[in-house]
Amino acid sequence: MTRLFRIAIDGPAASGKSTTAKQLARLLGFRYIDSGAMYRSVTLKCMTMHLDPLVQRDEVAKVAQSLDIQFPDLGLVSNDGKDVTKLLRQESITRSIAPIASNPLVRQAMADKQRLMAQTLDDRYAGYLYRGRCTQGVIMDGRDIGTVILPDAELKIFLVADLKARAERRFKELKGHDGLEQIMKDIEARDLADRTRTVGPLKKASDAVELDNSHLSLDQQVQQIQQWVHQRLDLMQASP
Ligand code: CDP
Ligand code: CDP
Ligand code: CDP
Repeated sequence: MTRLFRIAIDGPAASGKSTTAKQLARLLGFRYIDSGAMYRSVTLKCMTMHLDPLVQRDEVAKVAQSLDIQFPDLGLVSNDGKDVTKLLRQESITRSIAPIASNPLVRQAMADKQRLMAQTLDDRYAGYLYRGRCTQGVIMDGRDIGTVILPDAELKIFLVADLKARAERRFKELKGHDGLEQIMKDIEARDLADRTRTVGPLKKASDAVELDNSHLSLDQQVQQIQQWVHQRLDLMQASP
């Protein structure tokens, strides 16, 4: 029987979750589910419909329930069959997410979709061969994956990095559209909103491993996580 291995990666904005998750998914032949992209997708759809997320809360929830969000390939996102990957990371979306992500009905709709996705594996994900046994798996990143969405995940990582390191990395990515100071302020504001919302706040699960990558390269941290995956697989092998 093929084993299923679930990795939950949570952490504050720009801590390296999606880059790490993608690289790991490639190495392990696991499925990658970007839960942040799902909240971004709902936000994009609400913006095109000119909904006011603070006033039209039920309409926003309906969008979250009915929007068909898929990850057709590593890093790609489609909404109702349309590739929206390039649209999702716009600053206008990033700044508009908070009132949508704090809507409990939206979170419930996302949780239902995320749990379903984490259960369904298909032939596209070859899985990982370790000590002669194949493991299929899923890596999901976000804010509440280890605490709410997959509380019994086989491995939970809480990724952190200094605010300055995170802002500098985002600054490089955005190629100077916003100044470093502005990016720092935006990240701080988003972290605060994420940490203080009532439903599904950003929080380290008690059984998560914290990894500070302020001074780690991407390769170093991926290697560290892969070591943890091996340790868990050895444990699973010892007690099947
Ligand atoms: O990549 P970055 O850290 O900028 O953001 P993201 O992971 O794409 O998530 C964007 C926003 O979606 C976050 O600031 C959260 O407000 C929200 N989010 C959430 O509420 N719950 C999740 N599981 C993932 C994202
Ligand atoms: O998904 P999240 O918002 O947590 O972060 P990300 O978009 O994956 O990472 C933000 C940036 O940090 C990316 O450009 C990564 O390549 C970079 N990064 C890094 O320089 N060193 C690391 N150890 C991890 C990420
Ligand atoms: O190098 P050392 O054996 O001290 O630590 P590690 O195996 O790299 O693990 C670092 C931390 O990750 C430990 O303190 C544990 O809290 C956590 N960990 C865990 O909970 N379960 C594992 N199978 C491996 C690590």
